[in-house]
Amino acid sequence: MSHQPLALKYRPKKFSDLVGQEAVAATMHLMIKNGKTSRNIICYGPPGCGKTTSARIYVKALNCLDLQDGEPCGKCTACIEIDNDASIDVIEVDAASNAMVSDARALREAAMYKSTNLRYRAFILDEAHAMSKASFDTLLKILEETPPNIVFILCTTLITAIPDTIISRCMAFPFRRVSVDQTIERLKFICDNEGFSYELPALREIAVSTNGSMRDAISRLDQLSILLSENFTVEGTRQGLGVPSFTIIKNVLKNSLDKDPTNFWRSLEDIESFPDPLEIVARIEKTVHYAKLVGMSILDPSKIEIERSFVEEIVKHPNFSIDWANNAISKLIIAQNNFRQRSPLTLLRLKSDLSNLLRDPVLVKTTGEKAIYTENKTSQGRNPLISSVNSENTLSNFVTANETVVSDASPKGVDTSVPMSVENLASLFGGSVIVKR
Ligand SMILES: Nc1ncnc2c1ncn2[C@@H]1O[C@H](COP(=O)(O)OP(=O)(O)OP(=O)(O)O)[C@@H](O)[C@H]1O
Ligand SMILES: [Mg+2]
Ligand SMILES: [Zn+2]
Repeated sequence: MSHQPLALKYRPKKFSDLVGQEAVAATMHLMIKNGKTSRNIICYGPPGCGKTTSARIYVKALNCLDLQDGEPCGKCTACIEIDNDASIDVIEVDAASNAMVSDARALREAAMYKSTNLRYRAFILDEAHAMSKASFDTLLKILEETPPNIVFILCTTLITAIPDTIISRCMAFPFRRVSVDQTIERLKFICDNEGFSYELPALREIAVSTNGSMRDAISRLDQLSILLSENFTVEGTRQGLGVPSFTIIKNVLKNSLDKDPTNFWRSLEDIESFPDPLEIVARIEKTVHYAKLVGMSILDPSKIEIERSFVEEIVKHPNFSIDWANNAISKLIIAQNNFRQRSPLTLLRLKSDLSNLLRDPVLVKTTGEKAIYTENKTSQGRNPLISSVNSENTLSNFVTANETVVSDASPKGVDTSVPMSVENLASLFGGSVIVKR
């Protein structure tokens, strides 16, 4: 028997099965329960979060012969037909490629037929934003006075591409990305049901990597279940997802905080051997951002997706400081930017750039030290920050009179009375700052 994709097998069948779309599900459910239904609907939001699924549940509920407190029963002929994709009255089409929708006249004709078996004949127009101008015009006319017993549900990931005239004739339902925690819950449910074994952080890895798309999360679970023989370990899952092993990230940061050049160099070699070193450097940067925000008591560590325990470890390290974090972030950004400019030196340059993580942040005081600002030559054109500077508030504020200032401008609102790290100064200027003592 061929394998039924899990995303299909676990497609929600009633409103209460929908995950992470509480407002939409509750409204649709109440509309059915109270008999205050709408026949022009638009579902919009990011991909894979339940738009088409909700449209189908709604159509099922409209047609169900034995509603259960506003939920489709799932057992009557209407429910079964729709669940099995067997109803000729439910027309689900991809608006981008379907001739019926791209040909405006065909659409008008299709909308004239009465339903055959069901109470309502429903058009679910997926990718509605891709409709032609002529089809939108025709649809607009139809929606102005939707024929009795006809239901239109437009689904789109791009609401801005739908004419306002159409939107204003529809009841609009905004869908949200499904949160990491809610995605994990669903994945757990599926694993338990399928008899997969799993380490919870492995499911978290999948949920984080799919950016709020439940479909992608379930599809990845499906695909990885083959590779991992239905046993989701963290490392196996990370490998399967192409996510760098957590150990690499941890080693780079720990060795740089320890100021241990020998081991640091080893961790750089691990980065080098990874298929996409940039991915790791980006992850390292993300980890440092978290550490900085936790260190500043802005972010509650429990809100961190994956590297939670390690972020807390970094923050507690005796050499950790916010200046260290800012320094590291700017070094990591430079390393990533340089890496993107492919050259035979790319890997050497990456390691050399990353080695700057071993260096302490340099603090510039407003007086007594010399700061030279140089525009970041690698960025194209002038940085917008620089063009918005206030000429009265100059870089001279940061340096003493006898020192050289290459660029005589600084952004507004800079508090020149407090010492500032070179990296902060540089990021304010969108360039780099060289300090000579
Ligand atoms: N909110 C959700 N709750 C539970 N499962 C969901 C949810 N959203 C999506 N899924 C899963 O993903 C699959 C695809 O969902 P669906 O086709 O409804 O997404 P969509 O929002 O229409 O995506 P697209 O924008 O790509 O058309 C479903 O069959 C289901 O398994
Ligand atoms: Mg869809
Ligand atoms: Zn039913």
